[in-house]
Formats: sequence, structure tokens, C-alpha cells
Amino acid sequence: MDAKMRISSDYRVSEIDKRIYGSFVEHMGRCVYEGIYEPGHKDADEKGFRNDVKELVAELNVPLLRYPGGNFLSGYNWEDGIGPREDRPRRLDLAWKTIETNEVGLHEFIEWAEEVNSEVNMAVNLGTGDIDDARRIVEYCNFPGGTELSDLRIRNGREKPFAIKTWCLGNEMDGPWQIGQKTAEDYGKLAAQAAKLMKLVDDSIELVLCGSSSSEMPTFASWEAEVLDQAYEYVDYISLHRYYGNQENDISNYLAKSLDMDNFIKSVVAIADYVKAKKKSDKTINLSFDEWNVWYHSNEETDNTEPWQVAPPILQDIYNFEDALLVGCLLITLLKNSDRVKIACLAQLVNVIAPIMTEAEGDAWKQTIFYPFQQVSDYGRGIALTPNVQVESYDSTDFKNVPYLESISVLNEEAKELVIFAVNRSQTEAINFEAQISEIEISSVIEFSQMSGFDLKDINEKNAKRVQPNESKEIELDGQKVQATLAPLSWNMIRIA
Ligand code: AHR
Repeated sequence: MDAKMRISSDYRVSEIDKRIYGSFVEHMGRCVYEGIYEPGHKDADEKGFRNDVKELVAELNVPLLRYPGGNFLSGYNWEDGIGPREDRPRRLDLAWKTIETNEVGLHEFIEWAEEVNSEVNMAVNLGTGDIDDARRIVEYCNFPGGTELSDLRIRNGREKPFAIKTWCLGNEMDGPWQIGQKTAEDYGKLAAQAAKLMKLVDDSIELVLCGSSSSEMPTFASWEAEVLDQAYEYVDYISLHRYYGNQENDISNYLAKSLDMDNFIKSVVAIADYVKAKKKSDKTINLSFDEWNVWYHSNEETDNTEPWQVAPPILQDIYNFEDALLVGCLLITLLKNSDRVKIACLAQLVNVIAPIMTEAEGDAWKQTIFYPFQQVSDYGRGIALTPNVQVESYDSTDFKNVPYLESISVLNEEAKELVIFAVNRSQTEAINFEAQISEIEISSVIEFSQMSGFDLKDINEKNAKRVQPNESKEIELDGQKVQATLAPLSWNMIRIA
């Protein structure tokens, strides 16, 4: 099958906000404890954080980390996690029915994030928390000094403010499972007042309002319209969360699920712009897709886990090759919408539905989904160009007109590099891909990397890196034309200088 792409620097989606390559660390399962933090591990640093995990996180290249939850957030008091460790309380975490030891808190996490070159996207508890808790944590983190809370931060070892720029106003407040679930009107009013106080403390911060927990929620769309109506003038982004799975074992439908993500994004943009028009506002609300990933492999094991353990093995999805292909399609979808999606977080980072896995007292390794994420984060920097692609399409169980090729190109003017990301969704046919490039000077192919040829259910395990990208030679550059063979069911990255 043939696919033709026209690429021109004149046709741009947007400058890409690097925060689109964020991830998420929640105090749940083995993400923090036995994930990033394991004192006593042979690779632990003097603070108890694993150096082998730090190296993998730095390699994954995540400029933003949402923290500390998630559902955990809605019952969490951030003040439990500051001050001397021996004085910190052990608490019931009612969201995941576990025990939280509070060994890792705000200082430890932010300083760890700094070491792996990530900013923190801090979330404030609006489940059991109130607007004063939201004000206090901003003052503690960002105020230079001379007040009770900022001086307490200094006494706790941090002279310089943490300068947290991006903050989430609660988590999934529409969900019946959420501690302190609220109606859209109640949440919108609370979030508006919390936001007002937080910005009075530090007017340089940016705030994310909770959208729906998923586009499948019965209140989806009316929730967004109502919460934005209440809080529009105080916030900067609205959140989206969505997880996908291949429960039906139907690969053509599974790989089409990125069309659902695209539709979800466009619907939220429409709602945000409707509220903008209704309010006759000059301000545009952008999107924070702050939880997205594949999540379904571990559901049964998680349901059967004993409650009230410290760091139980929950949501430990082991990802296969087909999941990496879908993650590739989802990343391309985020880039296609980078004019409005300014923040996105792959949920989560370590052990819990994560690209990185660890064994207690043992190794850390990369799941299949690590690779497309790392490549897009490393090389998808600069300007997302309009994807002008001609290719055949198919209908799947739930989707019509699914293009066999999912693709976008990114122009990095600083590095003088053009990068094409592409997924071939066809199970049987290679794609003869041809990109005609104009207004961009090109002279050589730097790299053509491809993930293909694996069994769809192939996974990686510790010491067995089966599923990973390999170099392909099936590429030619002829003047301003690039021709490459994209194998059936493949993830591809082409870098041209
Ligand atoms: O990421 C796992 C959970 O999924 C989060 O805690 C919650 O926000 C979402 O439902």
C-alpha cells in the first residue's frame, strides 16, 4: 500500500510545549515505595532513592511529573510528609486501601524530581482538603521567606523556594470512587475559590481544573461546561483522563482507539471555547491530558490484593508489543492537537501502569511502551507540522475511516532536524511511504528506527529486552523526497537533517 505525506514548514499545528511529555507519580502501589525509593537497595543513594531507576527516568526524558495523585490525593494531607521522618504519621490511604508511611513527602519528591530534570506538577487535595490547605501549600512551596509557612520550609532544609509553576485543583472530582466527590457546581465553586487564593499567594502559577475522569462518564461534557462556567477566570487548563485496553483482543479496533482520544480532545476544546464565547472572554483555556495510557492487563490481580499493605503490587500492567503501537498512536494524537494540549502525563512512571518496572532488591527494566515515549520525548521537540497524509483507511468494530498510517512530523529548528513519527496499522501490508518536503532544507537521513516483526503479545522482562526499536535500512532520500518501507504493524521514527 502507498502513503504520501506532504511536509512544509509553512503548515504548522503549533510550537510543542515540552510539558506534553510529562508523566505521573502517585503514592500508590509500588510507584514510590519499591519504585523510585528503596533504602537498602544496592543502588540506593544516601537518601534512599534508587540510582538505577533515576537513570531510566532521566533516559525516558520526562520534563514534568504530576504528584502525589491521583485518587490518593483526595485523602492526603501534605503536612504529614514534611519535617523529621521519625515524627511522620502512618496513615490509612482510603483510596487504595493501603498504608501510607509518609517516608517520602514533598521535599524528598521535589528534590528527586530536580535530579531527574523534571518539574513538578503539584496537585492540591480538594476531596477532604479545603481552600486554606490549597493556599498553605503554595505559600510553603513558593513564598521566599519571612512567613510561618515559608520559614518552616527553610527550617525543613530548603532555603530556595521550590517555585512550582503548575498545580492541579484536585483529582477526578466527578468520580463516585473519589474521596469527597462533588457535583460540578460544588466543585467548580470550590476550585474557583482555591485558585483565587493560590494565585493571591503567587500570581505566576498556572492552574489545572478537573475535567471528567473519562469521556465515558455519564456527566461528561455537562461537567466541563459547568466547572468552567464557575472557575473560568481563575484557571488556565482543564484536565482530561483516559485509559485504553484491548479486552476484546481485536487489534484493528485496538489501534484505532487513538481516534477516540482525538475526538475526546476536540470535544473538550469545543466546550472550553463555548464557555469562552458565553463569557465573552479573551482568555483561552488549554488542555492538560494529565492521565493517559494503556490500563487493563492487571485489573483482576489488583482486585484480589489484600488490603492495608504498604506498597502492594497493584496495577502492575505488563505491556506487550501491541500496547507500544497504541502508545505510539496516542503520542502522535497528542502532537496533532498540540495547539491546545499543552500538558500531558503518561500515567504512571514506575511499576504502576508504567514504562519502568522494578524488582524489590533487584533490577529495573524498560517495558515495551518505554521506547515510543522516549523517542517522541527526545526528538518531538519544536514545531508540530500539519499532517497532510494520503493513505487508505478501514472500518473497525467501533471506528469508521481509520487511516492505515498514523503519522506526524516535527521540525526542530534549533537542531536543524525534521522528524517523522509513524505507525502502520495494517496487519498484512507494508506501507511504501513517501514524504515530499518543501521549505525545509534537507540533505541526509540521520536515523530510521523501527519497532516491528514482534508477536503482538511479546513483552519485555528483566534481562529480556525483546521488544525494542531496531535500525532499518529501508529508506532513501532523493532531493526533497524521502521514501521508506514501513513494515506491517510497526512504530517508526525517521530523523532527517
Ligand atoms: O492512575 C491510576 C488512577 O487512575 C488514578 O489514581 C486516578 O486518578 C485514575 O482513576
